[in-house]
This record gives sequence, C-alpha cells and structure tokens, in this order.
Amino acid sequence: MNLNIVKEKINKIEDDMNVLIMKPEDFAKIKHQIMVIKILFSFGNLERCNRKKKFKGVDIKMKIAIIYHSETGNTQKVANLIAKGVEKIEGVEAKCMSIDNVDKEFIEDAKAVFFGTPTYAGSYSWQMKKWLDTCKLKLAGKVGCVFATENYLGGGADNAELALLSELLVKGMFVYSVGSSEGKPYTHFGAVCIKDGDEDQKKRVEIFAERVAKNVKKLFNE
Ligand SMILES: Cc1cc2nc3c(=O)[nH]c(=O)nc-3n(C[C@H](O)[C@H](O)[C@H](O)COP(=O)(O)O)c2cc1C
Repeated sequence: MNLNIVKEKINKIEDDMNVLIMKPEDFAKIKHQIMVIKILFSFGNLERCNRKKKFKGVDIKMKIAIIYHSETGNTQKVANLIAKGVEKIEGVEAKCMSIDNVDKEFIEDAKAVFFGTPTYAGSYSWQMKKWLDTCKLKLAGKVGCVFATENYLGGGADNAELALLSELLVKGMFVYSVGSSEGKPYTHFGAVCIKDGDEDQKKRVEIFAERVAKNVKKLFNE
C-alpha cells in the first residue's frame, strides 16, 4: 500500500479518536498501537533516506578509501592526488590513510579502495603485503584499484601493480583500472609515477582517480 495513504489513514484515526467516546484503557491501547506504527514508519523513512543518500537535508556521500604505504613520502603525495581526482566527482568522499593508521569504519563503508605502494625489487612493498595479509577488514565486494611509484622508468611499477591486483582478486574485490576504455591517457593497471611524478604523471593520476570514482558511482547506482 502507498505509504502516504497509510499515513493519511493514521491521521484520520487520530482525528476520529478525539471525538470518539471510549474507555480510557481502549484509548490508551489504540494510542500505543499508533505510536508503534509511527516508529516503524520513521525507520522506513530513514531507510529510504539512506537509499537516496540524504538524511535530514545532509548529503550522505559515497566513500572511497585510499590506503598507501610510503617510507619517503612519494606514494603518500600520489595518494593525495588520487583523493583530489576522486573528489572531482560530486557526491563522493575520499579519505587517504597510511597502512600504519587506517580508518576501519571508513574502509568498511567504502564502495572502492585504492591501494598505493612503492616499487620494491620490481614488486609491491613487503610492508603493504604484510598489511594485506594481516588486516582483518572485509574487502570482498568492493572495487579495488592500485597505484605505484618507482625510482626510474622501467623500475617495475607495472609489475608491482599486477602483483597487488592479484592480492585484491584473492580477497574477492572487483579489480578495476579503467584501462583504455575511456581513451587517453590509458591506465593499463593503475596510475604510475616516477618518484612523486612530473606534471604529466600527476595529471594522469587525477584523471585515473576521477574516472574510477565516476564509474564506481555508476556501478553502485549512487
Ligand atoms: C627496498 C627498496 C627497493 C626498491 N626497489 C625499486 C625497484 O625495483 N625499482 C624502482 O624503480 N625503484 C625501487 N625503489 C625505489 C622506490 O620504489 C621509490 O623511491 C618510491 O617512490 C618510494 O616510495 P615512498 O617515498 O612512498 O616510500 C626501491 C626502494 C627501496 C627502499
């Protein structure tokens, strides 16, 4: 039944009660039942508000987490660029966090998670590996994307990203890189920067992040 019709009926019953002559205990009983129905309705409204991503006029934004490992600051700087790109999409909130200090609640609420790593011996860092192997977070069902920094062209960042993406697959994440689907700049496996990136690399990072956020929003119908 249409909710507005039910509401109207409740209001009508309340109006009628004001003119009805009935025993006080019956009156109290009906009042109590109406109160229960109203509470149930308010839960229903909250649920609908959440679905619409608005509650009491406040926008509820879709969350995207950015988790990185960084020893000398390069990957952290790229993480901040990822956040900048993500937040270009309206209704999306990004949060960067080091593996040393993660916001578990934010990650659990997030629809997508970016993982950023420095390249170590052509793969992703052992610190990131350790964190992923020991974190107790439920990452399954979220979109997983990666970015990496390296010291020189051909230093193995692509391989670091592929290895990291494999780990995300094992965790049951939907791995995503945009790839070549939206034209240039292509991001085959994720964003890559030499150290903290030159201007062109920085721009690519932001575009990558923005495209991911746009498509994740579409995917989850947010
Ligand atoms: C143990 C170790 C191994 C590394 N191996 C590579 C490598 O194989 N290829 C490369 O290009 N850079 C390599 N680097 C350099 C880092 O990947 C690069 O400086 C990165 O941007 C550091 O990130 P961070 O500043 O966030 O810690 C290595 C650095 C360390 C400490």
